[in-house]
Amino acid sequence: MTYQKEYQNSLTDPITYWTEQAKALDWFSFPENILSQDEDELYRWYKGGKMNTSYLALDYHVANGRAEQTALIYDSPVTNTKEQYTYQELLDETARFAGVLKAQGVEKGDRVIIYMPMIPQVVFAMLACARLGAVHSVVFGGFAAHELAIRIDDAKPKLILVASGGKEIERIVPYKPIIDKALREATFQPQACIVYQRDFVKAALQEGRDFDWETLLAQAEPATYTPVDATDPLYILYTSGTTGQPKGIVRDNGGHAVALHYSMKNVYGVVPGDTYWAASDVGWVVGHSYIVYAPLVYGCTTVLFEGKPIKTPDAGTFWRVIEEYQVKVFFTAPTAFRAIKKEDAQGKLKEQYDTSCLKYLFLAGERTDINTLNWCEKMLQVPVIDHWWQTESGYPMLANMAGLELQPIKPGSAGPPVCGFEVAILDHDNQEVAIGEEGAVAIRYPLPPGCLPNLWEDTPRFKKSYLSAYPGYYFSGDGGYKDEEGYVFITGRIDDIINVAGHRLSTAEMEEVVAAHPAVAECAVIGVADELKGQIPVGFFVLKTGLSVTETTIEKELIKMVRDTIGPVAAFKRAIQVDRLPKTRSGKILRKTMRAIADKQTFKPPSTIDDMSVLGELEVLMNEKTIGNCGR
Ligand code: COA
Ligand code: AMP
Repeated sequence: MTYQKEYQNSLTDPITYWTEQAKALDWFSFPENILSQDEDELYRWYKGGKMNTSYLALDYHVANGRAEQTALIYDSPVTNTKEQYTYQELLDETARFAGVLKAQGVEKGDRVIIYMPMIPQVVFAMLACARLGAVHSVVFGGFAAHELAIRIDDAKPKLILVASGGKEIERIVPYKPIIDKALREATFQPQACIVYQRDFVKAALQEGRDFDWETLLAQAEPATYTPVDATDPLYILYTSGTTGQPKGIVRDNGGHAVALHYSMKNVYGVVPGDTYWAASDVGWVVGHSYIVYAPLVYGCTTVLFEGKPIKTPDAGTFWRVIEEYQVKVFFTAPTAFRAIKKEDAQGKLKEQYDTSCLKYLFLAGERTDINTLNWCEKMLQVPVIDHWWQTESGYPMLANMAGLELQPIKPGSAGPPVCGFEVAILDHDNQEVAIGEEGAVAIRYPLPPGCLPNLWEDTPRFKKSYLSAYPGYYFSGDGGYKDEEGYVFITGRIDDIINVAGHRLSTAEMEEVVAAHPAVAECAVIGVADELKGQIPVGFFVLKTGLSVTETTIEKELIKMVRDTIGPVAAFKRAIQVDRLPKTRSGKILRKTMRAIADKQTFKPPSTIDDMSVLGELEVLMNEKTIGNCGR
């Protein structure tokens, strides 16, 4: 009964509940006001509390017996490098890099954009920003220059931190030219760029604007931590929305530290000193929360893995890392295991490793399909726990809280709600639907600590995107249903966001790019089920009349345009010419219906459809072109 009791307590008296959880941290001054509302009537946790996240992640542990414990393990099969940093060493590196930032004039509240691959310097950089109270905004390496330019113009960073490049499975990705291109496009210009040069790719530095990381570091004095308010922002992380403009999710310092500390203990069931590995990327929220902040704030050892589940060098690499560092809890996206299973279905490579150190496998980023769940259980012989969250929440909202009390696992469900989250399945009239019936997944507002308090400098969009559709609730954008025991089954996004290999992408953004092609009259981009990546984007375009261009030429050009504008991560590899698109009589494109046809699902066309025959045409075309793959 521990879970049920704890969950009820968290909802009945949230103030007492989250006061107790906050006591686990070493505040410089404990918050006077646990929950309050700001001038925009948005809720804020721990107002008046003074603290510093970098202090909690480093200095606190060094002063409390963890100086010699390994804090960070860097394992990079793509460069054949392995390094380890104790808490003392990580503190020293962070303090020195904070000194570099300080010498550049970075102060509390200044923004710093970080565009770097999975190397220890990215961790030093994030923690160094936090140390000074500066607000970092990490941009995932798979995004192209235009995406960076949007973020630069929105965040207005004083500095940009960049590495010369990263390594993908079969290619080197030079990062610096992407920054240079983004800065040519952006209106806002930062004061300087600090460039970390890697051995295998050298970046050209622009005199007066770009500075060499190591040169500045050699001259820097270590900087101490700056106390910040609990409600001060720690970072901005941009994520896809339903328009071409990404949303700047803001995370505050106090609620974030409390929530992550809480989740390590109660959701993931680790104890300080354990090794925790999240195989994600620091460019995503999973990387922010569970590679960097949560394991360190909680006193664990974290693994920074610069590689892929396969081909680096093989599909046994995950098993190797688990054994080598005695990982106790492992977290990744289901797609990673589908990739491994595709290469080594029988688990032959698994036989070479002893993974008995592992206690739990957690999966998120997309729904865990039952085949993958079963396969992982068979391979690892541990509970495999699907859990649901978003960039906005920063930590799980639905999860089997293994640290509190492991509940029965129900395949297909992301679990019951995490303490603090009152999850409701709503209909269009804001009413809870019956058990088993599908609706919009919403959370009673105010959300618990750690979730986004607002969007970066865009309160109206925050209210419109999340709070207005279902009054009194935060709307997640996902659909789902509940069973009689309160377990929630997420059925997927009910907006135009798609999930490709665990990466959240906006089809609206892709449509903007496709529509900009001079030969395209109109278009639609939809997410189609894919065996490996969960979903992949597919574009459908109608050509302007009187043009003599081939479909193949246009397809190639569109693929290049999306790759150059959004980035390779969009995985946009198919564009199909159609004579017309299905629409309502008022001209709205029926994307949901198109998706259903591609995924071979039964569907009921809306009564407002303009011409039913177009659906038949599309079905024939999709079959011809083998679009859609719902074999999972
Ligand atoms: N920098 C530059 N390019 C990147 C990149 C980065 N950090 N990350 C991905 N890309 C590129 C890839 O090289 C690929 O390019 P390509 O079209 O030239 O092949 C493209 O973006 C698409 O990448 P991805 O969707 O990751 O496909 P993949 O075929 O390289 O790998 C998986 C497939 C399943 C192995 C991989 O997606 C994976 O490990 N996914 C797990 C995702 C994850 O951890 N998500 C976080 C949420 S928990
Ligand atoms: P992101 O903000 O990138 O973390 O993506 C969040 C979105 O990923 C959610 O809104 C869901 O659509 C999807 N998602 C994440 N975890 C799960 C899960 N366990 N089950 C189903 N969908 C998930």
